[in-house]
Amino acid sequence: MTKTYIWSLPTRLFHWLLAISFAAAYLLGDADDLQSLHFAFGAFAGTLIFFRILFGFFGPKYSRFSDFPIGVKNHVEFVKTFFAKTKEYAGHNPAASVVMLFILLAGILCSISGYLIYSSESKTFSLGFDPDFLEETHEVLANIFLILVGMHLLGILSDLLFHPDTGTLRSMFTGYKNVQAENVRLNNFQKIFGFLWLIIPVVMFFYANGFQINEQKGNKQETEETEQRESESEEDED
Ligand code: HEM
Ligand code: HEM
Repeated sequence: MTKTYIWSLPTRLFHWLLAISFAAAYLLGDADDLQSLHFAFGAFAGTLIFFRILFGFFGPKYSRFSDFPIGVKNHVEFVKTFFAKTKEYAGHNPAASVVMLFILLAGILCSISGYLIYSSESKTFSLGFDPDFLEETHEVLANIFLILVGMHLLGILSDLLFHPDTGTLRSMFTGYKNVQAENVRLNNFQKIFGFLWLIIPVVMFFYANGFQINEQKGNKQETEETEQRESESEEDED
């Protein structure tokens, strides 16, 4: 059986780090006492995705968006040949390509909206969006992201059931698929890029871990409560 190297090390590390950081950010979304950790994992995931988007333009074959078969014809062919197994895909198949693109889009927008909530609540800066709108958008994007991950896992499961010989699942660990295609090779620029792709998200993790808005929130709430008490006592005096 022919083995071809499809996913280089930066792609595989990106993938598993994204899976972990997304899961952590999502689960910590509501945890008030671990809010800084939520910001840290969210910023980590967002930065990973930002670099993956750049990799989509000047990364190697199979990672480049121009290599994603997303045209209507590709989808028709994919459906027609799915059970006949007459067509194999070295990179992402058409359905996977669409899900991947939406994962990247939902993920980056989710991180940006999270940062905008933080910056307006901590009074760092504000783009003038309504805070309720930002919070709603952030929550919706996080849930869209989760649904896309569910679709992604169903895709992997169906591949495992109907195309077990391709070794798609294993390819995200080893890099190799059982397909006849060109091996992926990183040039020096892509290797340096891959290194920064791992370092910069870690820097962002620690940077965002220092974000604090609980105090401001607490103070705001206290001020509102004091104002309310004062106005109530004024009314009583009258
Ligand atoms: C939060 C969880 C996850 C997220 C956000 C996620 C996201 C992604 C993304 C963005 C890609 C495209 C990689 C690229 O083109 O650079 C991908 C590919 C892939 N993922 Fe995941 N993933 C998650 C969990 C998983 C899990 C749990 C598995 C294994 C059971 C898995 C198996 C794979 C495989 C095998 C591919 C390559 C698919 C192909 O060759 O077309 N992923 N994933
Ligand atoms: C992929 C990355 C992220 C995911 C999946 C995510 C997910 C979530 C989830 C599920 C919630 C709870 C929503 C609710 O039920 O109210 C939440 C809340 C929140 N997130 Fe994120 N988040 C991400 C990134 C970020 C980042 C980078 C920041 C800021 C630096 C951030 C700031 C916030 C804030 C301030 C809240 C509380 C909003 C509120 O008061 O309702 N998030 N996030």
